[in-house]
Amino acid sequence: MANKTKKILITGGAGFIGSHVVRQFVTKYPDYKIINLDALTYAGNLENLVDVAEFDNYEFVKGDIVNSGFVNELFAKECFDGVIHLAAESHVDRSITNPNAFVNTNVIGTVNLLNAAIETAKKNADFRFYHVSTDEVYGTLGDTGLFTEQTAYSPNSPYSASKAASDHFVRAYGETYGLDFVISNCSNNYGPNHFPEKLIPLFINNIITKKPLPVYGKGENTRDWLFVVDHARAIDEIYHRGNSKNTYNVGGLNEWKNIDLVRLLCDLMDEKLNRKKGESSELISFVKDRPGHDLRYAIDAKKLTTELNWKPSVTFEEGLSKTIDWYLENTAWLEHVTSGEYREYYRKQYAI
Ligand code: NAD
Ligand code: DAU
Repeated sequence: MANKTKKILITGGAGFIGSHVVRQFVTKYPDYKIINLDALTYAGNLENLVDVAEFDNYEFVKGDIVNSGFVNELFAKECFDGVIHLAAESHVDRSITNPNAFVNTNVIGTVNLLNAAIETAKKNADFRFYHVSTDEVYGTLGDTGLFTEQTAYSPNSPYSASKAASDHFVRAYGETYGLDFVISNCSNNYGPNHFPEKLIPLFINNIITKKPLPVYGKGENTRDWLFVVDHARAIDEIYHRGNSKNTYNVGGLNEWKNIDLVRLLCDLMDEKLNRKKGESSELISFVKDRPGHDLRYAIDAKKLTTELNWKPSVTFEEGLSKTIDWYLENTAWLEHVTSGEYREYYRKQYAI
């Protein structure tokens, strides 16, 4: 890595958030070497990174973090200065039908990276391990209150249990082996390149194609939404300036009940698609609730905003409008990622 000041491994860089983190680091730090390790599962797509693929400080490596032999070899060869770990199975509904995939990637995959990391840390005193985690580890809130960094872990889905387990392993490697780590627990992201199985991109896609919008239960569940680019900016700050062995909550103080968000999305899309006002909301269909469905997530991000001076750069209205525009301009991407393996899954899930 001639003339490069740092070599950073980003795992899961071909996925939704990972691709924005790769772009943030590759474009902002031309003196770093950024290596993106991704298995390219159904959720990983190199089309998300075409704009940076040719940068000389970027390299893609295809590989599976569950394969410990492969992970150890890569770390021995590259002697990284840091790892920003995002690779995961990320969809709650899939964790309900296939929990083992989540244990394999999210728990065993993370432990494989940690084992390799402690070997690198013996040779490189500056080495830092960053685990990108979720607010879902805290379980659910009632009608009031916010998750803080002191909130006890209480995961309710196989996905959140696997992320909680991996957070605990990271912390344990800090205590037991002295590994320098940071963890962040972020709320729901939205934005370009979001895989259309999650609420916002699924519903945008279904509105475009005039398919039903399956709202779970009564749509009373609440999520705290953050534009993905702002999450990538927070990760940059936390990686560089976060205190060792600390956790940072990331969120935009932007709570929406699902049904209110869906109605807003329908109205915005009617306008953008020149449809009659109210046309898209006729697609709303209340369906059986998700088992163990957490009622409400809301983040207190005071530690991040005061210690590291981070704040969101866009309002929800701006972010959502940019997101819808991106999907309307990238129908080929939508068509591509929803073909093949995913199309079969979607057919089974919705019996169509
Ligand atoms: P995603 O599903 O879009 O992307 C995951 C990426 O990981 C994909 O590129 C996939 O190919 C890769 N991957 C999966 N298994 C792998 C394996 N065994 N080896 C190597 N690569 C593998 O996920 P996302 O929504 O971008 O989430 C990224 C991370 O951020 C996850 O750790 C997730 O828990 C966390 N997170 C997500 C959100 C959110 O709202 N999406 C919020 C907070 C935290
Ligand atoms: O809070 C952070 C988490 O946010 C991340 O850790 C996860 O990786 C990410 O997927 C997301 O989890 P959610 O379960 O909150 O996201 P999802 O988009 O699946 O669902 C958002 C809300 O919308 C939730 O209350 C369930 C509901 N929903 C979802 C889908 C896919 C529906 O009503 N209908 C749907 O079809």
